[in-house]
Amino acid sequence: MARVLDGAAIAATIKQEVAEEVRALAGRGIRPGLAAVLVGNVAASEIYVRSKVQSCADLGIFSELITPPASVTTEEMLELIAKLNSRDEIDGILIQLPLPAQVDTKALLDAVSPAKDVDGFHPVNAGRLQAGRPALAPCTPAGIIEILKRSCISMAGQHAVVVGRSDLVGKPVAMLLLHQNATVTICHSKTRDLGAITRQADILVAAIGRAGFITPEMVKPGATIIDVGINRINTREEFDRFFLGDAKREATFAKRGSTIVGDVHPRAFELAGAYTPVPGGVGLLTVAMLMANTVRAAKMRRGSSGEGAR
Ligand SMILES: NC(=O)c1ccc[n+]([C@@H]2O[C@H](COP(=O)([O-])OP(=O)(O)OC[C@H]3O[C@@H](n4cnc5c(N)ncnc54)[C@H](OP(=O)(O)O)[C@@H]3O)[C@@H](O)[C@H]2O)c1
Repeated sequence: MARVLDGAAIAATIKQEVAEEVRALAGRGIRPGLAAVLVGNVAASEIYVRSKVQSCADLGIFSELITPPASVTTEEMLELIAKLNSRDEIDGILIQLPLPAQVDTKALLDAVSPAKDVDGFHPVNAGRLQAGRPALAPCTPAGIIEILKRSCISMAGQHAVVVGRSDLVGKPVAMLLLHQNATVTICHSKTRDLGAITRQADILVAAIGRAGFITPEMVKPGATIIDVGINRINTREEFDRFFLGDAKREATFAKRGSTIVGDVHPRAFELAGAYTPVPGGVGLLTVAMLMANTVRAAKMRRGSSGEGAR
C-alpha cells in the first residue's frame, strides 16, 4: 500500500513552528506583517486570500488586506507597491494573481522589494535561489521540499523528474531538488516520449495543470509522486474517468456538482511508494510556507537572522 503524505499534518506542524517564532520575535518587539493585495472580485482569489489572512491571525502575524477595484491601472498599483515597500511594519507583500488584463503583472512583481517578496516571484529571488544564496523561495516549491524532508524521503542521488517548467512551480522546484542533490530532469509540452522519462523517476513531480495527465503506465513502481495539480472537474464523464466506485468522492460530487483532481490519475497512486493526495497534499503547504516566508523576511530585513536580504 502506498504511503499517503499528509499535507494537513505537515502544514499544521510548520504553522506551529511559525507561531513559536512569532512569539520569540514579539519578545524583541518585532511583529511580522503581511500586506495582501486582492484586486477585483475573482471568487477563487477571494477564497485564497481569505485563508492567507486568517492564517496570519491564527499565528500572530499582522496582516492588512488591500482591495483595489478591478478597474485599477498599472500606475495606481505601482504607487501602492511603492508605499508598501517603504512601510517598516510590512515585511511581506502578496499580490494575488491573476490580475485584470489591463494591469502589467510582470512590472508589478518586479516592483515589489526583493526583501518583501514573500511569494518568491522577483527575478532577484529567482537568481539567488539558483545561485544557492539565501532567498525567499516560491511557496509551493518550498512546501514540496518540506513534505519530502519531513516524510524522511531521501532526495540525494535520486532521479527526480519534474513535469512542468513554470516560473511558479516547475523551475523553482527543480532547482530546490538539485540543491538537495537529486539528479533532476525537467519535462514540458515539447518533451518527446514523456512516459519513458517519467518511468525513470524515483521522485515524480507533476505540475502540469491537466486533470489526471500522469497515468499508471507513466510511473515506476515504488516511486514517490508529488501531485501539484489542482483541476476542478464537473462532468459525469470526467468524474467516472477518475473516481468511478469511490463512494467518498461520489458524495462530494453529488453535493457540490464538482470535485478536484490533481495532475496524476488516482489509479497511478496505487503503484507509488508514497504520494501527496489532492486535495490534502501540496496545496495546504502553500499557505504554511507563505507564513514561514513572512517571518523569514521579517528576520532578514530587520537584521535578526544574520542572512541579510538586501
Ligand atoms: N497546490 C498549489 O498550491 C498550487 C500552486 C500553484 C499551481 N498549482 C497547480 O499546479 C498546476 C501547474 O501550475 P503552473 O502554474 O505551473 O501551470 P502552468 O504555468 O500552466 O505550467 C504548466 C506546465 O506544464 C507543461 N505541460 C503542459 N502540457 C503538457 C504536456 N502535454 N506534457 C508535458 N508538459 C506539459 C507546460 O509546458 P510548456 O512550458 O512547454 O507549455 C508548462 O511548463 C496547475 O494545476 C495549478 O493549478 C497548485
